[in-house]
Amino acid sequence: MRIIFGFLAAGLAAASAVTLSSVPKREDVAKAVPGVTASAAKAVATLVDKPTYAEHIAPIFNRSCVSCHRPGEVAPFSLLGYENAKKWANMAHSVTESKRMPPWKAVDGFGEFKDANRLSPVEIQLIKNWAATGAPRGDKRREPAAPVFYGGDWTLGKPDRIISASKPFKLGAEGADVYRNFVVRTDSKEPMYVNGIDVKPGNAKIVHHVIVFLDPNKSSDRLQAKTVDGQDGYESGEGGVGFLPGGSLGGWAPGVRPRYLAPRTAFKVAPGSNIVIQVHYHRSGKQEEDLTRVGLYLAKEAPKKEMDMAWVFNFRVNIPANEPNYRLEQTYPIPVPITVYATMPHMHLLGKEMKAWFELPDGSQKPLVYVDDWDFNWQLIYSIAEPMKIPAGSKLRVTARYDNTSDNPRNPNNPPKRVTWGEQTTDEMFLLIAYYTRD
Ligand code: HEC
Repeated sequence: MRIIFGFLAAGLAAASAVTLSSVPKREDVAKAVPGVTASAAKAVATLVDKPTYAEHIAPIFNRSCVSCHRPGEVAPFSLLGYENAKKWANMAHSVTESKRMPPWKAVDGFGEFKDANRLSPVEIQLIKNWAATGAPRGDKRREPAAPVFYGGDWTLGKPDRIISASKPFKLGAEGADVYRNFVVRTDSKEPMYVNGIDVKPGNAKIVHHVIVFLDPNKSSDRLQAKTVDGQDGYESGEGGVGFLPGGSLGGWAPGVRPRYLAPRTAFKVAPGSNIVIQVHYHRSGKQEEDLTRVGLYLAKEAPKKEMDMAWVFNFRVNIPANEPNYRLEQTYPIPVPITVYATMPHMHLLGKEMKAWFELPDGSQKPLVYVDDWDFNWQLIYSIAEPMKIPAGSKLRVTARYDNTSDNPRNPNNPPKRVTWGEQTTDEMFLLIAYYTRD
């Protein structure tokens, strides 16, 4: 599973950031996003029959692909530079035409997002024409400069605190995926206000994604104490942490940039809380080690607003076998005025679409997000371009559809069988998280 826990608008973190040539100032990072968004405005607009790498393709790849497709990053090959790009021209055409790449699942026109990584129809056609005409380079001198990636360790600069397991975790060559939860005790007497995080996976070959959970009741101490393999942390079922978390600081998955939260907002870590770093490991076929680190950026001044998450669940998931279009919905009342920054839909393998919007007291509607082609492998946090003010008395409406037939290639059961709510990937979920502050 590749969760893109970016918490973009309001800012989570991700190691594979498109980065800057120098350490950005906090204010600048809050304002401008390096990489994708900065250049996203510059869509390549003119369709030509014989596009060249230099003039047409490089700008597209540099903007939308190389954040993941470069050495040391999550994608299996690099698309940096003409030689690499040319090798992949035909495949690039096929995956962009089918919209598999770049991975971005929110339907255009329903909500507006930061970092939206989408190709325009013209750009898709340009890649197609380029591949069909033998992927010519064109005039080398017109090639844009290669994007510069921040060479330092931490994209947002040196974190105020770096947390991790006490020693590298050893993962065997073979077996099922592992969800390991590393417990970090803060032992702080004061609340800690976190204004941004950046996660550095220690070993890109095995780290699938990372989620950072808050554990104000220190339930994780008990779970850790039961561990018998002599290593740090404890294991839990797929995706769960074994206790009800008091929140999350976000996490990491391929391709997302670290961000600070909006100015003067922060996640509150209650005094004495544990922080649990959950790492989803996928084995490489060899014995591996990983020490994933999380950098915390603390608010320098007391935040005006605490970032909160609304978890919109519907536990009544009960999907009959062979049902192609099982529908569920949930309504979540908003009793106080809030500002909404980001959202994350979540389902498992049978999910096919999820849609969320606000119904305001005056009867009008505000779109939040619509994913019509749910892919368990690309779970993104969608950051709203302009934080949205929602008045008291509004409702958050969420609908979802599921496909429990054998036409769904991800269906874990063959033949299909009834599937209900649960934490295993082969169970189902209905969950939408909205990140908000109270006004
Ligand atoms: C967020 C990270 C990310 C971005 C952005 C991204 N890719 Fe990928 N890409 C991947 C990963 C990971 C894989 C391998 C796993 C997979 O196929 O899903 C991949 C696989 C591919 C493949 C191989 C498909 C196959 O069947 O083997 C091609 C071709 C490709 N990407 C092209 C592109 C192009 C072109 C762009 C930009 C328009 C792009 N990607 C943007 C992460 C990304």
